[in-house]
Amino acid sequence: MEKMVLVAGATGNLGRRICREPLQREASVSAIVRKSSDPAKREALSKLGVRVLEIDLNSTEEIVQACEGMDVVVSALAGLADVIVDLQKRVLDGALKAGVPRFIPSDFCTDYNDLVPGENRNFDLRRTFKAYLDSTSIKASSVFNGAFADILKYNTPLLNLKERSIGYWGDKAGWKLDFTTMDNTAAFTAEVALDDDAPRDLQIAGFQISPNMLWAEVKEITGEEFSLRQISDMASFAELIKKQRADNPAGEHELYAKWQQSQYMYSMFSTQHHNLSNNRYQNLDWTPSLAFLQSFVK
Ligand SMILES: NC(=O)c1ccc[n+]([C@@H]2O[C@H](COP(=O)([O-])OP(=O)(O)OC[C@H]3O[C@@H](n4cnc5c(N)ncnc54)[C@H](OP(=O)(O)O)[C@@H]3O)[C@@H](O)[C@H]2O)c1
Repeated sequence: MEKMVLVAGATGNLGRRICREPLQREASVSAIVRKSSDPAKREALSKLGVRVLEIDLNSTEEIVQACEGMDVVVSALAGLADVIVDLQKRVLDGALKAGVPRFIPSDFCTDYNDLVPGENRNFDLRRTFKAYLDSTSIKASSVFNGAFADILKYNTPLLNLKERSIGYWGDKAGWKLDFTTMDNTAAFTAEVALDDDAPRDLQIAGFQISPNMLWAEVKEITGEEFSLRQISDMASFAELIKKQRADNPAGEHELYAKWQQSQYMYSMFSTQHHNLSNNRYQNLDWTPSLAFLQSFVK
């Protein structure tokens, strides 16, 4: 029978990509959106064939109604505690009341299970929700994609096209970092959504690339030798992030405060995906690093 997938956060960058994928796999997709969601984004979802349900996301009862008959709820919501903890809890409660058997939370990050709590604010929010999720009877699966490959475009200290530089922390010039494109993450997530036997945690990486490898691939594309340098040791990096955070209390209310971006980088240089599930599903076309870099490195 046709599987029924409900997506929360469907108007988002990742969410709309996730919606597209099950439709290509002969599943039906519904999306719960709020009144204030951009009409153009809703319209685009409808055009894809998504059943768009405008509901009051503060009402568990309305969420329950939307969840009736669904096989799985996928959350691609993005935000701070009010969204990642509070809203996801409401969506989960609605799914539980409606008897939905499976739930995919909005993790979509580096696998934080082995990282130290307190080091990454956005991961701590996910941990809080995970504790609640895992205390319920629903079968959950998390997709851990490392970083979206797009962050390589943002002139971070890791790869800065303006400064023609590549940076790393500690002695980790050879440390492989996990990246996945948003499209690959969405396609994999759709497979997980349709796979009743999917495990609790799935690590993926479209490509794993070290600063040294990045340097070589950038040279292959541009013919240029970017500067490759150690920015600091890891302990100094951790101290700097604490100071950046203390100096910027307003960042506590920002999803991607500068210190949060540093925390993300620190996490990527602290843990790696060693247990990849990339090959769990057939016919996924993973974008490799060179092709991705060629799309924007000039
Ligand atoms: N690994 C990485 O490098 C990386 C990078 C970026 C994001 N991510 C993760 O990927 C996931 C999706 O992120 P994204 O970039 O696709 O997010 P996005 O484009 O900002 O979309 C966020 C979605 O959440 C909804 N939303 C936000 N606040 C809400 C609220 N208070 N009530 C109801 N809906 C709300 C938005 O709805 P409206 O349209 O109504 O606002 C939208 O559908 C998140 O888990 C995010 O942390 C990972």
